[in-house]
Amino acid sequence: MPILRFDWNTLYNELSGCLKCRLCEQRTNVVVSDGPPNAEIMFIGEGPGREEDEQGVPFVGAAGRLFNILLEEAGLKREDVYICNIVKCRPPQNRDPFPDEAEACLPYLRAQIALVRPKVIVCLGRIAAKYVYDNDIQISKQRGQVKKKGLFYVIPTYHPAALLRRQEYTNDFVYDLCSARKLLERIKNGEEV
Ligand code: URA
Ligand code: SF4
Repeated sequence: MPILRFDWNTLYNELSGCLKCRLCEQRTNVVVSDGPPNAEIMFIGEGPGREEDEQGVPFVGAAGRLFNILLEEAGLKREDVYICNIVKCRPPQNRDPFPDEAEACLPYLRAQIALVRPKVIVCLGRIAAKYVYDNDIQISKQRGQVKKKGLFYVIPTYHPAALLRRQEYTNDFVYDLCSARKLLERIKNGEEV
């Protein structure tokens, strides 16, 4: 896919009828993104769940509602951030996307990154971090550690769904979101990061 020639229309057109992997078979909606296309922070999750598949919007289920609350706690607003996923179609029973599915879908994510040009990317959970941050990521050890990747900085943290099962991760999650917000402020002020 010729990423560099991508514009938003082409991206949406390609995505709306995409048959590039088996996840097309059971989807209701392709879930592209939520948030402004010129956002300075981008959050990347794993893939749509049931409610996301029904509504065509990422992070609107239980994990998404918790995410909205914790974004506010960290001083960020949901309407200011761009949210998307590694795979745009729901994996059956919410299983992890298979590597071939992620690889088939990644050109779309690369196009989203190229078009939004975020300054900071936060990877929500292991799957997002595997494809965007470090192939061998261990979230519990590496969460919160900033890496520069080309034009942007990446921070991995827990997936909000993990917080529904393990409440004790919540403080670290909010801490990482605060780190992302402060990092963005330093970048915008031209300070050392
Ligand atoms: N989990 C994800 O990873 N993405 C969503 O959009 C919803 C839940
Ligand atoms: Fe296409 Fe991605 Fe959906 Fe697979 S998950 S069918 S690559 S949009």
